[in-house]
Amino acid sequence: MTTGELRAGLIGLGSMGRHHARILANSLDGVRLVGVVDPMGDKHGAAHGAPVLSTVEELIGLGVDYAVVACPTALHEEVGLELAEAGVHALVEKPVADSVEGARRLVEAFESRGLVAGVGHIERCNPALRSLRARLEAGELGDVYQVVTRRQGPFPHRIADVGVVKDLATHDIDLTAWVTGQQYVSIAAHTVSKSGRPHEDMVAAVGKLADDTMVNHLVNWLSPLKERFTSVTGEKGCFIADTLTADLTFHSNAAQATEWEALQAFRGVAEGDMIRYAIPKREPLLVEHELFRDAVLGKSLDICTLRQGLRTVEVAAAVLESAATGTTVSLNAAHQGG
Ligand SMILES: NC(=O)c1ccc[n+]([C@@H]2O[C@H](COP(=O)([O-])OP(=O)(O)OC[C@H]3O[C@@H](n4cnc5c(N)ncnc54)[C@H](O)[C@@H]3O)[C@@H](O)[C@H]2O)c1
Repeated sequence: MTTGELRAGLIGLGSMGRHHARILANSLDGVRLVGVVDPMGDKHGAAHGAPVLSTVEELIGLGVDYAVVACPTALHEEVGLELAEAGVHALVEKPVADSVEGARRLVEAFESRGLVAGVGHIERCNPALRSLRARLEAGELGDVYQVVTRRQGPFPHRIADVGVVKDLATHDIDLTAWVTGQQYVSIAAHTVSKSGRPHEDMVAAVGKLADDTMVNHLVNWLSPLKERFTSVTGEKGCFIADTLTADLTFHSNAAQATEWEALQAFRGVAEGDMIRYAIPKREPLLVEHELFRDAVLGKSLDICTLRQGLRTVEVAAAVLESAATGTTVSLNAAHQGG
């Protein structure tokens, strides 16, 4: 091992794993991709020269400092536990596990051994949402009233093991808690399954955060257009983030009272200026990898922790419980993994 170079492994060389392989092999300073595990082999020539192995055991045998887990969600727990037992740090793709119990077992396995473990909630690394979070923290919006997200698109043929709530809405749940710094306290939802698959493919959810912020999520795999929309409305106006284009705009409330009598009768806000911010647009996956590498090196801890990933899985489970029972489900801090 070269002094100062981290040895990284990758588990799963599918549509997401191929992007991880590209970054680990070509773009990440101070890291070397030493092996890839995929029982189906390297179908797309994406291993960038690293050996392609059949088992996690063989990868551990090569000697790795950390591994990226990008196999199907239902296998995250089994693979993650094997890595933790071998003392290997891990960046696990989202959602961290397909069940609350599995996510808890992963948290326990990594935390009890003092290992660094993160979840690939990549929206946190989107330039628009990073800028939005910093602006909310700086008080640019004043009080936050509502977060709305829409995540719509066609069905991705590769996903078969979980429904749209665990696969896609977990992005919205994580980003909402992260940009606001608030946990969910309740959620109500409806789901449907229109495409004849065993899991739901459309969800509409209404929730509340600990500071009373209202939340709405509309997420589906039934739309011929692709949309990744987040708005945050508050005291001073409304931020809109488009995470497909990484654009962030701010629509401010009018600072001056209007003199037009008809409009003066309306006692709400009035339209002010609109700003589209010029923000540097770095590739989110590269940023995610840099932050995880720095966490492994002990330089910073700006990652989505496994415990935060567990919380997201708990909220997703509450969404499904609400849809199944027709009730609003409460989530207190204890329920959400502390
Ligand atoms: N962060 C994101 O935006 C994002 C996007 C897509 C997928 N994902 C996540 O990444 C994970 C993989 O999704 P995908 O779309 O790449 O799926 P995929 O089906 O395209 O790829 C999964 C790969 O894992 C391999 N595999 C199966 N069993 C394995 C095992 N035991 N060990 C190692 N590899 C195994 C398969 O052969 C396949 O190549 C899922 O958890 C998914 O939720 C995240």
